[in-house]
Amino acid sequence: MSRKGIILAGGHGTRLYPATRAVSKQLMPVYDKPMVYYPLSTLMLAGLRDVLIISTPRDLSIFQALLGDGAQLGMSFSFQAQTEARGIADALVIGSEFLDDDASALILGDNIFYGHGLSGVLKTAACAHPATVFAYRVKNPGAYGVIELNAEGDPVEIVEKPSQPRSNLAVTGLYFYPPNAPEVAGSLRPSARGELEITDLNRWYLERGSLRVECLTRGQAWLDAGTHESLVAAAKFIETIEKRQGLKISCIEEVAYHMGFITREQLAGLVHDMPASSYGDYLRMLLEENELT
Ligand code: G1P
Repeated sequence: MSRKGIILAGGHGTRLYPATRAVSKQLMPVYDKPMVYYPLSTLMLAGLRDVLIISTPRDLSIFQALLGDGAQLGMSFSFQAQTEARGIADALVIGSEFLDDDASALILGDNIFYGHGLSGVLKTAACAHPATVFAYRVKNPGAYGVIELNAEGDPVEIVEKPSQPRSNLAVTGLYFYPPNAPEVAGSLRPSARGELEITDLNRWYLERGSLRVECLTRGQAWLDAGTHESLVAAAKFIETIEKRQGLKISCIEEVAYHMGFITREQLAGLVHDMPASSYGDYLRMLLEENELT
C-alpha cells in the first residue's frame, strides 16, 4: 500500500500574536530548529517520503525556501495553499490530487512526538488498512478531541473539545487514513464554527468500525506548541534532553540518513554546505562517529 504525508501548517497563529504577525507559527523555532521539522521527522519515521506541506498563501514561499523540493533528504515535497482556515479535515480535500487515491498520514504542524517505541508504532500505523488515531493521556482533555474507549480498548465515542470530557484521552494531531479520506472529508458538513472538523471525519470511521486507536504510553511525549506557554515548555523539553544526551531530536538530516533515504555521501554533502552552527557541528559529529562510517 502506498501512503503519502500531509503537514498542515496553516492558520494565523493568533494565539502567538504578535510573534506570528509576519511569520507562520510553524516556522518559529522550538529550541534549535523550526517547529515544522518535528512533524516532518515524525512522518519520515513512519517511512513516508512523499510529503505535501499546506500553509497560507503568505507563508508558503518561506516553507519552500526552508525545505526545498526534498531531494536533499531523499524525499519529495509539494506545497499547496489553504486560502481560508476551513478546518483540519480540509487539508485532505486540498491534498486530494496530491494523494491521487493513495492512503495518507496527516499531521498538524505544531505537534511534537517523542519517545521510546514511537517509530515502531508509526510504522505499524503506516501499514494498517483502517484509519488510525493516537490517544494520549492529558490533564486538560477538554482542550482537545477526546476519545472514550471500552474495556476492550475499542473506541466508543469521540467528541471535539467537550465541556464534560468522558476520558483523559486526547486525540493527537496525527492521523492515518485509507484512500477514501479526501472523499469522506469533502462530504462532511461544516461545524458551527464553519470548519470541516477532523473529529467528524474520525467519527465517520469510528461509526463504521474502522478506526484503530493507538494509545501512546506514559513513556512517550506528545506536545503541541500553539501558545506562548506550550512553545516555551516544548523548547525547554527539547533542550533538556538534547543537552543531556548530546543527541538531537527531529534532526531531519539525521533521520533521513537513519531511515536510509540518503547515503553517507549525501549526508556528508549536506554537512559540507551547512554554515558554522551547533546544528552543523552536530551533523559533523555524527559523520565522524564510528557507527556511521
Ligand atoms: C485540533 C483538533 C483536536 C485535536 C488537536 C490536537 O484542535 O480539532 O481534535 O485534539 O488539534 O492538537 P486545535 O488545536 O485546532 O484546537
